[in-house]
Amino acid sequence: MLHQSRIGVAITGCGSAAPVATLDNEGLSQVVETSDEWIRTRTGIQQRRLATPNESLKTIAAEAAHHALEMAGVAPADVDLIILATSTPDDLFGTASQIQAELGAVKAAAFDLTAACSGFVFGLVTAAQFIQTGTYRTVVLIGGDVLSRWTDWSDRRTCVLFGDGAGAVVMQADPEQNALLGFELCSDGSQNECLTLAFQPQSLELIEDITIGQGTFQPIAMNGQEVYRFAIKRVPEVIEKSLFRASLSVEQIDWLLLHQANQRILDAVAQRLGIPSHKVISNMAKYGNTSAASIPIALDEVVREGKVKPGDVIAASGFGAGLTWGAAIFRWGKS
Ligand code: ACO
Repeated sequence: MLHQSRIGVAITGCGSAAPVATLDNEGLSQVVETSDEWIRTRTGIQQRRLATPNESLKTIAAEAAHHALEMAGVAPADVDLIILATSTPDDLFGTASQIQAELGAVKAAAFDLTAACSGFVFGLVTAAQFIQTGTYRTVVLIGGDVLSRWTDWSDRRTCVLFGDGAGAVVMQADPEQNALLGFELCSDGSQNECLTLAFQPQSLELIEDITIGQGTFQPIAMNGQEVYRFAIKRVPEVIEKSLFRASLSVEQIDWLLLHQANQRILDAVAQRLGIPSHKVISNMAKYGNTSAASIPIALDEVVREGKVKPGDVIAASGFGAGLTWGAAIFRWGKS
């Protein structure tokens, strides 16, 4: 039963899109000194999709949202809010409103949300608040990133990991039940330097005594081992807390859907939680780490394959730069 003053949320559609260009590990070994064997065994990644200069976050994110709206049977004109979780906007002032125009979602408010690879989970919880308070009835949440723009293509420790893509879900008010069963969001800025895409200012003196900082963002820099340790400790913790809030046990989860960073992280987290591998959703072999897009792309794949069925309980967890991490336990589909 829902609390009387609260409206439930249902997740009624999903969609995804990725650039056409595909770079496999063999191809990548022409860019940096690496090998298919090293990348596969350390990460599980076999290929990644990369955006050309003619593609943009807007184009792939709008395509993903369009597919999600079609599945949900919702017209763009009926969307109240669009949230775009991204760290790689086409425009630092925000890309969500460009997507709103592209979709023809004429009455929707639209904004960007940045929480790196946790962005989709942070966005899911944010969208649910608007629906549960009765403010909006229909929200499109998109996770999209074009990390190839900010990857250091001379650094073999990071460039083998990332890829580009977008995934989306449609979330709608549901008077009968609440599909968001439990969640927990966390941040620890004291560990920010583990994973950065940082602005680097250079001094520009405008007039005497007034100097400002102008510059650009530096490519992604990562301490891989620290990030690995952080993920395998914090992700099981945050999933357990979210399950507690949902009054569910680990055994009641149908699917574990983690941010697709690295197969070894997925395996270690599943093992710590005692979740068998057939319940673990993994598609990073095909896409690499697509940051905020990885969870909704993987969700879209398993829903369209018919593996995930309406009513299934999914434990999703995002983790990454910030550092940020979070989990959401939700039921897929219309009630
Ligand atoms: N090809 C070949 N050799 C490589 C490569 C490569 N692509 N990269 C590193 N190496 C070498 C290193 O130079 C090093 O050689 P050395 O011992 O001769 O110096 C050796 O391999 C081991 O390097 P490490 O950096 O210690 O490799 P590690 O075993 O830690 O694996 C990895 C690296 C896969 C990145 C691992 O640390 C990891 O999975 N970390 C988590 C990172 C992650 O998932 N980040 C993203 C999450 S957050 C987000 O999504 C934004």
